Amino acid sequence: MQLSLHFPELHRFILEQFELPLDSLHGPSHWARVGRIGKRLARHSTADPVVLELFSLFHDSRRKNDDWDLEHGPEAARFMVKLRGVYFDCTDLQFEQLQYAVQHHTTGKPTDHITIGACWDSDRLDLMRVGIRPDPAYLSLEHSREETTILWAIQQSLEEMDPDLNLLDS
Ligand SMILES: [Fe+2]
Repeated sequence: MQLSLHFPELHRFILEQFELPLDSLHGPSHWARVGRIGKRLARHSTADPVVLELFSLFHDSRRKNDDWDLEHGPEAARFMVKLRGVYFDCTDLQFEQLQYAVQHHTTGKPTDHITIGACWDSDRLDLMRVGIRPDPAYLSLEHSREETTILWAIQQSLEEMDPDLNLLDS
């Protein structure tokens, strides 16, 4: 498993405390795809790549199940406080944006805030892993809503699924 480029120690620590199986729908392969999508969104916008990478690692880190778990965002936002300065560092502004993005990522509506919107988009663009096509109505950035971006993200999500199951054809 490839650890996060900039925060390998943090990645290791988060993996060790993760309560769900490693092949969980909200586990490390999802975090990696969210990280890759985040990098693409940062290249096509002014979104902060550090916040995006930290978001990919933290946002589902405290999930207790793969179903409806409204508390995991707020819980992850609290969890990261004691790790700052130990496993990662960032500016106060980056931390503020990261905490908001993580806390509200499940229910947050599309926003004009580029970095927070990019965080939520990076998560929502990986929905095809559960058979849901990403819907532009729930995406914040113009680049995220483009058909080429959505198709690229779908392809990524499908690559780790059963090769016989090609949802793009259906
Ligand atoms: Fe997620």
